[in-house]
Amino acid sequence: MAVGFDPFEQEYLADPYRRFGGLPAVFYEPALDMWVLSRYADIEAVFRDPATFSAAIAQDPMFPLAEAAREVLRAGGFAPAKTMSNCDPPEHARIRRHNLRAFSARRIAGLEPMVRARAGELIDAMLAKPRADAVADLTFPLPAYMIFTLIGFPPEDTETLKSWGVDRLAFSWGRPSVDEQVAIAEGMVRYWEYCRRFVRRRMDEPADDFTSDHLAVHRADPEALTVDEIVSVVYGLSFAGHETTANLGANAIRRLLEHPEQWRALCADPGLIPNAVEEVLRYDNSVIAWRRVTTRPVTVAGVDVPAGAKLLLLLASADHDPERFDQPGRFDVRRADAARHLGFGKGIHFCLGAPLARMEVRVVLEELTRRAPDLELVPGQRWDFPANVSFRGPRELWVRLRDSEP
Ligand code: HEM
Repeated sequence: MAVGFDPFEQEYLADPYRRFGGLPAVFYEPALDMWVLSRYADIEAVFRDPATFSAAIAQDPMFPLAEAAREVLRAGGFAPAKTMSNCDPPEHARIRRHNLRAFSARRIAGLEPMVRARAGELIDAMLAKPRADAVADLTFPLPAYMIFTLIGFPPEDTETLKSWGVDRLAFSWGRPSVDEQVAIAEGMVRYWEYCRRFVRRRMDEPADDFTSDHLAVHRADPEALTVDEIVSVVYGLSFAGHETTANLGANAIRRLLEHPEQWRALCADPGLIPNAVEEVLRYDNSVIAWRRVTTRPVTVAGVDVPAGAKLLLLLASADHDPERFDQPGRFDVRRADAARHLGFGKGIHFCLGAPLARMEVRVVLEELTRRAPDLELVPGQRWDFPANVSFRGPRELWVRLRDSEP
């Protein structure tokens, strides 16, 4: 029987959690030409078996591109190599190894003072206003600043890079019209060319950044990491490193302020904040779905799935699975097993940026609870979410200090 699952419909974008409870464990959705998985145990098993469940389609457009858009990409030489999230073994391990060093817990701990200083500046500027959009003023600029600084992109290019990021979201995870596809493809070509030029410049003028570190690996052994792969990694991380974390920060602030007793608990005891971040990753994550493709016929939850089947893994549904989490619809910053969420995936592709994302959101909450314990949501605001299957966070999040407005 047809389930009629449409991840682009308004009600789903506004609140996907209401839909999850009624979904079968596994079903084929013709409108997406995908097999959809909704339960924790099945999705975890998929992540743990990369030989059967290839990551190759993770970054592909959700729907086939129109010929006009493909022509723009061809003419523009747009050709990112499969590097990490969409790369299978054995190449995956070779490329990931060089990136692990840059994102190790030790390296990330060294960045924390910079994140804290920048978060403090942004929060102070935000609180100086009678009411502020915490997305525009805090949760978006902070991770953008961090990832672009790590990569080495010049600060003056931030706005352009951010707008390409929005395009890329629609390009790979949205359902753009043919005209939109062509416009977005033109933006993608510019974004790709920007990354190529940037890496070429760093070859001539190395600096103290992640890109120069990668180029040093290439110089020592050109087979270890090719220049094309480095351009692709820069292209990949410049997106993965900000949309995701910006949205998680916004979801965290929203959910905590919707539960004022839990916000107050964090203000009184900041030691609760790391677990609160895990609970947001479980309860209202910024990546709600991810993709795989089968390499052979396989049975999932008793359903036969053919080879070459595209899978949509509903991570957010898995993290609200009552078989895995007690009262999953309850937001609880003290939940003992919150960190068992699948919000960063699992196995060989487990999110490389998890230590950075966790640290950034923790620092935002530490600084915000300390500087603005009286923060509240501006009442009556309408939540609006970009139409796509994977990345979820409100476009705007209006906050103010209590009693700051009549
Ligand atoms: C809250 C923030 C974030 C969330 C929710 C998130 C989520 C995810 C998810 C679900 C995956 C796929 C895992 C899998 O296939 O098993 C992933 C992979 C990845 N993420 Fe993140 N991510 C976040 C932040 C970041 C940041 C800040 C960076 C980079 C600085 C990053 C870089 C990556 C990379 C490179 C991969 C692919 C790793 C591989 O295939 O080996 N992510 N992330």
